[in-house]
Amino acid sequence: MTRPTRDWTTPTVVYLDVFVYAILSVQEKSQTFIPYIWVMTSWANELLSWDPADFCGIHQVAVPGELLWKPDLFLYETMEKGEGTGSPFVLLKHDGTVVTDGNQKVMSMCAMDVHKFPFDTQKCTLSFSSVIHPDNEIQLVPASNSSRATQNALEIMLSQGEWEFINVTVHTDKLIFQELGSWDKVVYTITIRRVPLLHVLTFILPILFLLVLDLASFFMPDTRGDKLAFKVTVLLAMSVLLLILTDTLPCKPSQTPLIAVYVIVTFAFMLLSVLETILVMYLTERDVMESAGTPQGHGAGGGTRDHHSEGLHLTSDEGNGKSVERGCICKANGVHQQEALPLTGCPDPYEGSEGNPTTHLLRLILQELQRGVQRPTQEHGTSCHHNTMARSINTTFFLLYLLSISLFLILLFLNWVYW
Ligand SMILES: *[C@@H]1O[C@H](CO)[C@@H](O)[C@H](O)[C@H]1NC(C)=O
Ligand SMILES: *[C@@H]1O[C@H](CO)[C@@H](O)[C@H](O)[C@H]1NC(C)=O
Repeated sequence: MTRPTRDWTTPTVVYLDVFVYAILSVQEKSQTFIPYIWVMTSWANELLSWDPADFCGIHQVAVPGELLWKPDLFLYETMEKGEGTGSPFVLLKHDGTVVTDGNQKVMSMCAMDVHKFPFDTQKCTLSFSSVIHPDNEIQLVPASNSSRATQNALEIMLSQGEWEFINVTVHTDKLIFQELGSWDKVVYTITIRRVPLLHVLTFILPILFLLVLDLASFFMPDTRGDKLAFKVTVLLAMSVLLLILTDTLPCKPSQTPLIAVYVIVTFAFMLLSVLETILVMYLTERDVMESAGTPQGHGAGGGTRDHHSEGLHLTSDEGNGKSVERGCICKANGVHQQEALPLTGCPDPYEGSEGNPTTHLLRLILQELQRGVQRPTQEHGTSCHHNTMARSINTTFFLLYLLSISLFLILLFLNWVYW
């Protein structure tokens, strides 16, 4: 019933051996580490021993565990009683040595450092100690040293999930409470490294791809806001990925995960690029409006403004129908080209119907369109001022954008993987 010793002043030496069988789960968000371990303990029961020669050479017997005294070992980091398949029997040897073993799933707490997630290495500890027997009653001793324990674990490891088992170190420690005394503690430190492939494939690469899409969108013609819509879509796709990140990682103010820096800075870059597109669109639009508002020909056109015609504004002098006001066509080139060019090769379907004023007007419009298409942009010098500015802003921004993104990514990945 009580500690099996003949002299109560001598402590019972309990040998402890822990093997890591499998790493079932590691959860960063809740900071839990769930390994499957096999625990073997042995100690000497000084009151039970026999000479095998007297008992037909029987060296050991299995007896029900509850018949004998057992050290009350417990695991510090555990949060709930682990499920396990320990044997109900203990092995009693003829010299009085009692051996118990059993495996169990341990729900343990582990303070994880997610700074380098998913290129991180975690150290989780399993500390064993007696609950009520201080160190003058139970002396805890690890049965295997670190290299032996690592070797054992490597030999029996069944599954590691997305983690790679590195090594186990074991050391003894004391747990000291001032008035109550001190307790022996054996600490196993399990080092595991994450296999980052999954996170690289499902998270880091998609973000890089979105970034490439965003960069590629600089080469889109920015008519009708298509480019803006495209960029905003890319930004939305990013925010979906952001949600996944929030689900995976804990929020620790002390150590910002580099992956969060990666995502949020990339997000900021994309936001900048959307803002830049808006600015360029604004400048272009202003150009169109301004040129629509300052007629070059007769003053008659000043009153009617119509910028829905995408920069081409036409009015007709009622007298001879020959004065045509020109707007800034340079921006709208892409649109009008497609409509105007095929007509140049066609025979004029209105030939011979000169008398009709509507037909005449239509012909004038057609001529004007063709002339507008052939005219180089520079001719519009002042009226396309903003447009030129927008284009140089676009180019400068793109170069700066590319440069800073490359610099950021290189520094981040170096920091992530090597430092
Ligand atoms: C660890 O223990 C093994 C035997 O179990 C022994 O051969 C080895 O030298 C020990 N290593 C250290 C570093 O003590
Ligand atoms: C275990 O691995 C860690 C990290 O790789 C290393 O720092 C430590 O020295 C290793 N310990 C032993 C006993 O090999």
